[in-house]
Amino acid sequence: MSKIVVTGAAGFVGSHLSERLIADGHQVVGLDAFIPYYPRALKEQNLAQVRQQPNFSFHEVDFRSDELRPLFEGVDVVFHLAAQAGLLRSWSEFDSYMTCNVQATQRLLDAITAQQSQRPHFINISTSSVYGRFATGPEDSPKEPVSPYGITKLAAEQLCWAYAAKDKLPVTVCRLFSVYGPRQRPDMGYNIFIRALLNGDTITIFGDGEDSRSNTFMTDCVQGLVLAMQQPDKSVGEAFNIGGGEEVTVNRVLQILEDLSGKKAVTKAGPKRPGDQKRTLADIAKAQERLGYAPSTGIVDGLRAQLAWQLNA
Ligand SMILES: NC(=O)c1ccc[n+]([C@@H]2O[C@H](COP(=O)([O-])OP(=O)(O)OC[C@H]3O[C@@H](n4cnc5c(N)ncnc54)[C@H](O)[C@@H]3O)[C@@H](O)[C@H]2O)c1
Repeated sequence: MSKIVVTGAAGFVGSHLSERLIADGHQVVGLDAFIPYYPRALKEQNLAQVRQQPNFSFHEVDFRSDELRPLFEGVDVVFHLAAQAGLLRSWSEFDSYMTCNVQATQRLLDAITAQQSQRPHFINISTSSVYGRFATGPEDSPKEPVSPYGITKLAAEQLCWAYAAKDKLPVTVCRLFSVYGPRQRPDMGYNIFIRALLNGDTITIFGDGEDSRSNTFMTDCVQGLVLAMQQPDKSVGEAFNIGGGEEVTVNRVLQILEDLSGKKAVTKAGPKRPGDQKRTLADIAKAQERLGYAPSTGIVDGLRAQLAWQLNA
């Protein structure tokens, strides 16, 4: 049993990861500040299940300002998911991206490496947005982010490598590709599509609907993160793409949702948005080879699960 800190534990991915780690027999400390990007009530719901587990404890803490050192004593692994997510608002609310993604990550790394005892394995959760408009990887391809969000997440990655070099901190970076499933953030595409479909609202399709994503079902994403934790040699410092295996266009997603829900989508065309990526087909060859990562949930099954969750929400 390991003692594992999950930052951003009240969020979409962090809450699922915490549940999985508890189910695997670990002791999990969840940390989150409930930043108001979306309502606290939704994050409390995310946490409801895992809060009942005796091996889970939770602290409300803001990495931008709170004292952090005592939180990392005796910790084996840190999954760093806390961030100001969402690409669009990064154009208008840069302060929050700068402080939550860059400053907070630096304070966290500083607190962890200030300890003289053994260094935990630091697993930094990053994003396909670091690659740029045609975000596919492989991991060593050029990093040309086209949004302030991507730029701050790339800066966070670089901070991790700097601390890895300076303080021998074992670091792994996992770049996620559009995760979906139950608890998906309310600002994310599939959540918006399903909500609009169920309410009979108009869905705006930005561009021609042929932009594609290799979305990752949440259980596959969590499996990838757990495999990253289990690597035998953590000292090397590697980045991995954790994506879905299937590329699907926006138009195809809408068709599947219509079929699953029996409802007809009302759509209108909108202009492409700044920073939107054309394609996010994940190159997962490295994670497949090195971690044994093999995403297994197809888009129809994944959307069915998310639709069921939103119907009951
Ligand atoms: N969801 C995706 O499709 C996706 C894709 C690529 C990368 N990611 C990355 O995965 C991670 C989790 O994303 P998510 O979708 O679960 O987002 P989320 O917003 O649901 O969760 C992030 C959590 O971090 C917390 N947080 C933010 N700033 C904080 C601070 N200063 N102190 C303490 N807590 C703070 C928030 O309150 C929130 O609960 C993020 O790092 C994000 O960049 C997500």
